[in-house]
Amino acid sequence: MTQPLTSQDRVFVLTGAGVSAESGLPTFRGADGLWRGHRVEEVATPQAFHANPELVWQFYSERRKRAATVSPNPGHRALAELERALDERFFLCTQNVDSLHEQAGSQRLVHMHGRLMQTRCSRETCHIAPFDDERLYLSRAEIPTCPQCGALLRPHICWFGEVPFAMDRIFEQLRVCTVLLTVGTSGVVEPAASFVRMARINRARAIYIGPEEPANSKFFDEVVLGKAGEVLPGLVKELSG
Ligand code: APR
Repeated sequence: MTQPLTSQDRVFVLTGAGVSAESGLPTFRGADGLWRGHRVEEVATPQAFHANPELVWQFYSERRKRAATVSPNPGHRALAELERALDERFFLCTQNVDSLHEQAGSQRLVHMHGRLMQTRCSRETCHIAPFDDERLYLSRAEIPTCPQCGALLRPHICWFGEVPFAMDRIFEQLRVCTVLLTVGTSGVVEPAASFVRMARINRARAIYIGPEEPANSKFFDEVVLGKAGEVLPGLVKELSG
C-alpha cells in the first residue's frame, strides 16, 4: 500500500516508452531493440541524418504511421486523472514523442525528447518554429526543404548528442517536487536517468513502476513491478487517498 498524498505534496511524473507499450508502441530496448538491423542510437543522431536523411525519415515515417493507429491505455488515463486531482501540484515530463498523454487528457506536460508529429528545419541557426506535420517521407525526393533557408527539414526530435527540450522548467519542477513517479523507462538514457537523484536531493519520495527493475533502481524508495496500465489506476487511487 502506497502512502496517500497530502495537500502539500507536489508530484513530478517521468514517463518512458513503457507507458505506451500496452497501447501497442514498441519500446526501444525491448526484444532485440533493432530497426532494420540498426540500433536506435544509429538512426537517432544528427550525424545519421547528415549521412542518410532518407533512412532517418523512413524510420520516423514508420513510427508516425504506427502512432496514428494507437490510443491511450489505462496508464495514460490514470496519470491524467491524477493531474485533474492535483492541478498545479502536478507535472508530467515524458521522454516519449507520441501524443498519447495529451490524448488521455494530460495538459501540464513537456516532451523532453520532442514530438513525433512535428517537423522543423535541420539548420541550427534557422529559427522557423517546429510545426505540426503527420506526413510520411519515404524517399530523398520527398523530404521537404525549409521555406526560409532551403535546408532539409527534419523530425522535431531530440537525438543522441542533442540537448533535450524544456530543461529549465524540468529542473525547476524537480527542485520543488515531493514525490517522483517514474514509469516505464530503463534508466539508462541521460539526463532522465538522473532525475531520481536530483529529486532526492530535496528528499522527494521516489516510486518506480514497470515490469522490470530499471538500471537506476537503487535510488528509488519503492519499485512496483508490473505493467503501467495495470498498476497505475490502483496506485493513483492509493495516492489520492
Ligand atoms: N509498463 C511499464 N513499463 C514497461 C512496460 C509496461 N507495460 N513494458 C515495458 N516497460 C519498461 C521496460 O521494462 C523498460 O524498462 O519500459 C522500459 C522501456 O525502456 P526503453 O526501451 O529503454 O525506453 P526509454 O527508457 O523510454 O528510452 C529512453 O532512449 O532511445 C531513446 O529517445 C529515446 O526516449 C527514448 C530514450
